[in-house]
Amino acid sequence: MKTYLVTGGAGFIGSNFVKRMLSVYPECKIVVLDALTYAGNLGTLKNELTDERCSFQRGDIGDESFVSGLFKEFPIDYVVNFAAESHVDRSIENPQLFLQTNILGTQNLLDIAKKAWQTGTDPNGYPTYREGVKFLQVSTDEVYGSLGETGYFTETTPLDPRSPYSASKTSADLFVKAYGETYKLPVNITRCSNNYGPYHFPEKLIPLIIKNILEGKKLPVYGNGTNIRDWLYVEDHCKAIDLVLHKGRIGEVYNVGGHNEKQNIEIVKLIIRTIRELMTEHPAYKNVLKKKIYDQAGSLSVDWINEDLITYVKDRLGHDQRYAIDPSKITAELGWTPETPFEKGIVKTIRWYLENQEWVDEITGGEYLKYYERMYTNR
Ligand code: NAD
Ligand code: DAU
Repeated sequence: MKTYLVTGGAGFIGSNFVKRMLSVYPECKIVVLDALTYAGNLGTLKNELTDERCSFQRGDIGDESFVSGLFKEFPIDYVVNFAAESHVDRSIENPQLFLQTNILGTQNLLDIAKKAWQTGTDPNGYPTYREGVKFLQVSTDEVYGSLGETGYFTETTPLDPRSPYSASKTSADLFVKAYGETYKLPVNITRCSNNYGPYHFPEKLIPLIIKNILEGKKLPVYGNGTNIRDWLYVEDHCKAIDLVLHKGRIGEVYNVGGHNEKQNIEIVKLIIRTIRELMTEHPAYKNVLKKKIYDQAGSLSVDWINEDLITYVKDRLGHDQRYAIDPSKITAELGWTPETPFEKGIVKTIRWYLENQEWVDEITGGEYLKYYERMYTNR
């Protein structure tokens, strides 16, 4: 039986990964390590935490004695590091926290895994490790910077981060690579494009737009809305991580993306249309609207859910224009392909939000409201 330390497992992608692992591997043991910052929520894992294969440990990846204690308590074979400060806008507001968590936290994990897994030293002085262990760093396409109208990020594209968030993720990647080279620690790095799906925190574009529509609020589009992101359904990302963890060549980087480029404005318009259509086809969904307008027949109206809600606001500083991943390496080596077409994934995601408003309400209390006010008032 393999034991996985999943850091950041109470966040968006980490929790989806925990759910996948428990359902795919009957014999696994999962230790979730999460600090439960504003972005982490135990409610997301409420079913998983009743499973005896899964345990939760609240703590900081940068806390040396806490993380060392976990390696003593559990026979950890794999570290999958999702834990991070993940929002670009917050990194522009407070870069230092991103250095602490994303860089120093990752280096702390690397160091402790190295010590815990080391079995000896080879004749050249390199550490040797217990069979079958691995450290997987969940990274991002943002480390490659920004593309123009053409081209794709490959694993050999030069690193060119442009925001404090992406600079911190790039630094973490370089430490992971350095531990792989200098100490021969078995590592992999995955670099994925924008994810969407259930349990996405509504500070990010897709869940924020859904939430605002339900509340009848304006839909803030940065700049002119032509920036492009390459969207991937979160379960497809989790499957890629699973494959790289178990089959990826040691030391390699794998890009993950689904060739699904969309301008932000297209995404916003699609969400408006889809919510309206879903509420028209399934009137019960209208009950989750927080803004209630009635038509003459006394039914809840959805006519006001239209493009007039869109408002163009001040652009993000240093806003990357376009991301697009070339995933041919992971496809050729590990047979990974995305399984969820965007047209299906986005409807599935919107339905999930319409059906899980308690989850949204639970995670968007005081801190979220203050953040929203700070970020969007007078923007
Ligand atoms: P998220 O913000 O939803 O979750 C991050 C989790 O990490 C939260 O549960 C939070 O409580 C936890 N955390 C934060 N600081 C911590 C600390 N010091 N110690 C322990 N736990 C801590 O983020 P996400 O969107 O799920 O992203 C997960 C990872 O994937 C990140 O490393 C991110 O850089 C990367 N990534 C995200 C995307 C995306 O589109 N969301 C795409 C590519 C890569
Ligand atoms: O590419 C992978 C990255 O994707 C991850 O590494 C990050 O953790 C993740 O947050 C995401 O970063 P982005 O900055 O691309 O995602 P975000 O949802 O914040 O923004 C998507 C696009 O939408 C971006 O061009 C900015 C724009 N936007 C965003 C918000 C929140 C708006 O126009 N309005 C908004 O209110």
